[in-house]
Order: sequence, then C-alpha cells, then structure tokens
Amino acid sequence: MTALFDPRDPAVRTDPYPIYRRLRETDPVHWSHFGYWVLSRHADVDAVLRAPGVSSEFYRNEVWAERRGGLDSPLVSSVRRWMLMLDGPAHRRIRGVISKVFTRGAVERLQPRVAAEANRLLDAMGEGEIDLIDSLALPLPVTVTCELLGLPTDNRVQCRQWTEQISRVIDPSITPDDVAEMNRAETEFRSYVAGELDRRRSASQDDILSLLVHADVDGVRLTDEEIIANVLFLFVAGHETTVNLVGNGMLALLRHPAQLELLRSNPALIPGAIDEITRFDAPVQIVSRLLDEEVVLDDAVLPAGAKVMLLFGAAGRDPSRYAEPESLDVTRTGIKTLAFSGGPHYCLGAALGKMESAVVLGELLGRYSKIELTGDELVWRPNVSFRGLERLPLRLFR
Ligand code: HEM
Repeated sequence: MTALFDPRDPAVRTDPYPIYRRLRETDPVHWSHFGYWVLSRHADVDAVLRAPGVSSEFYRNEVWAERRGGLDSPLVSSVRRWMLMLDGPAHRRIRGVISKVFTRGAVERLQPRVAAEANRLLDAMGEGEIDLIDSLALPLPVTVTCELLGLPTDNRVQCRQWTEQISRVIDPSITPDDVAEMNRAETEFRSYVAGELDRRRSASQDDILSLLVHADVDGVRLTDEEIIANVLFLFVAGHETTVNLVGNGMLALLRHPAQLELLRSNPALIPGAIDEITRFDAPVQIVSRLLDEEVVLDDAVLPAGAKVMLLFGAAGRDPSRYAEPESLDVTRTGIKTLAFSGGPHYCLGAALGKMESAVVLGELLGRYSKIELTGDELVWRPNVSFRGLERLPLRLFR
C-alpha cells in the first residue's frame, strides 16, 4: 500500500506541494499507518497550535526518545531542556528570560550590523558564478547568531557542523547512523559551550550567554545543563531557518521573474514579500505535537494521546485561506503565515529572521542588474522538517 504521506519519500524533499494538495483534497485529517495524524488545512494547523492541552514534550514519548538514543543519551538529555520542547511553566521560565533579547527595538538596533556583514560577504562574493547558500545565505545568519549568543565567530564553521547534525533531531526520517552522529556532535558542542560559560562567570559581556548565566527566575538560577541546551537550540533556531528563507526566497523569485522585477523596482515591497515567501515555501515545513487532551476540529475530533504532524507548507497553500495559493504574489495582503508557528511557541526570532532575509534580498536586487539560476538539478537538504537547498548556483551580473 502506498502511504498518502511518507516523510521518507524523496519527493517530500524535492517538491512536497503535489503531495500536500492530494492530502488536502482527499484526506485533510489523515490517519497515517506510521501512527500519527497528518493535518494539511490552514484552519486545522492553526487550531492545534493554539489549542489547550497540546504538548511539545516529545521526549515523553518512549518510542521518540528511544529512536534518538534514549532519555539519558547526550542528545535527548539536551533536547528535553530546549524551550521548544517544554510546556507550561517550565517553558515560560526559559522563554521569559530569552525573550528579553528579541524585542522590536533590539532587532532594529541589530539592523546596521546585519547590513554591514551582508555587504562584507557580498563584496567578497563579487560577480559571475557563485553559490548563494555558501557565500551569503548561510554565513550571514551563522555570524549573526554567534554574535548574539556571544560564541566566538572564529569557531563558527565548527559550531555550524555540530548543530547541523543535531538539528535533525525533529526530523521524522532520521536513521540510527544519524542518531550516533547527533549524539557525538552534542557532546562536543556541550564541552565547547561549557568553556565559554566559565569565561562569562568571571567577566560578563553584552550577549545571551551572559544573560543566561546571570538570569534569576523568581530567585532560582538556570542550571548549566539548561543554559547549554538552550544555547544549542538558539544556535540551530537562529540560522538553520534563516538560510532556508533566503535560499527558498531567491529561488521562488527566480522562478517568478515578474515578481523579482517588481521588488527590484519597488524595494519597499520587500518586507511584505518575505511573508509571502514563507507562505509559498516555508523554511520549516513540519512541526509535531502530542495531545494531552482531545482537540475538536471543524469536522473531526483528534483523541487525547494522539501524535499530530502539522504541515506548514500545506497550510500555506490552502485555497480556502488564500486565493490562487500556488502563485507567488509579492503584493499579496492579508497573509497570516504559520511559518513561524503560533500559540505559546511562536518563533521568538521571527522579526530578526525576516529582517536578515529582507537585508539580503534587498542588497542582492540592488547590486546586480541580472541574476540567473545555473545548473539543472537542485539538491535539497536531507531534512524534511527544515526545507532548504544544499546549494543555489547563480550567475550574477552587475
Ligand atoms: C527566519 C526564519 C525563521 C523561521 C521560519 C522560524 C521558524 C520557527 C518555528 C516554526 C518555530 C516554532 C516551532 C514549534 O512551534 O514547534 C520557531 C521557534 C523558535 N524560533 Fe524561529 N524561525 C526563524 C528564525 C529564528 C531566528 C533568527 C531565531 C533566533 C535567533 C529564532 C528563534 C526561535 C526560538 C527561540 C523559538 C522557540 C520559541 C518557543 O519554544 O517558545 N528563530 N521558529
């Protein structure tokens, strides 16, 4: 029997949208024989994100934890302290501390630094044939995230290698070999960050590491385990997503040249275009939830105890929410993108990620009179939760 949705199917990585359409049209509240529900309509995805009694604590599911090395493995010991994987007061305790860094004013203050770094990378990139991912889309958010956290930028390549492996923890298609590598990467990252924490204890700096070391929540300090786990998570959250937003966005514009020209002639449209791009080709395609209580949808009831997979990419192209959802329209209004999630786990870095992406697209369109896609075959990264290109080969003309 062919599954209606199989995360291991290579087509889910290369072009999931026909699969999503079939799901929405034939079985929008789909029970998968893999043991979870799969939701593809905008209203249903939105409803589950906001419903009470919905949990992100996957490590509580024995099968989930065992598949990743067990509850006490380095990987799961870290992941079960990530704010992303916590519910209720335990989640609010960490989110409350970290949210101080992501105020609107703080993001605005970072803008000139982001623009300067983007311009430095663009100067180095020059013109002719380049790989946008390697030259700009990846190094920019890696550097910005390192600086925000307070991790030395000299070691950013190594940090990126560790966290790239670890980021697959939420990927439903991981293999035992991946898990062994992820556990090794976690152990190495942990000892690296522990050294940085010791330095912050003796001399505080203006960075997230110092904020976390000195944070006091109702008279209780965060433990080293909590701090290291959340530094790791923030490193992943800060760049794995932004690289995909820039790469998927540029690709979408190259495939819709009239839209690209519209942005070139009217850069004021770029911030709105970023929302449209996240609707059109979401950087995070899938998040999952465990239901502690039943959730009542318009035409179905999901039982307590169920595991639910929410397809953001499918929700973004739901025709009952968006007119002509398969078209990219940078002037579209009324977008309620779910690409940054919703409810208690709404992305804390959404404004920062959008700002970084807007800076990159704006600078690219401003600098180059013509941008062409080169090469025939696009290679997508081996991660179905995070949708992004391995490489985006371009030819740039001034
Ligand atoms: C630019 C593209 C980005 C996208 C598409 C994105 C997407 C998401 C999504 C979907 C979630 C929630 C997952 C869930 O509900 O289970 C999330 C959470 C989060 N993101 Fe982002 N993100 C982006 C950039 C960033 C950046 C730049 C940062 C920080 C430097 C960041 C920090 C966070 C944090 C801290 C959370 C956890 C919130 C919580 O659990 O309460 N994100 N992000």
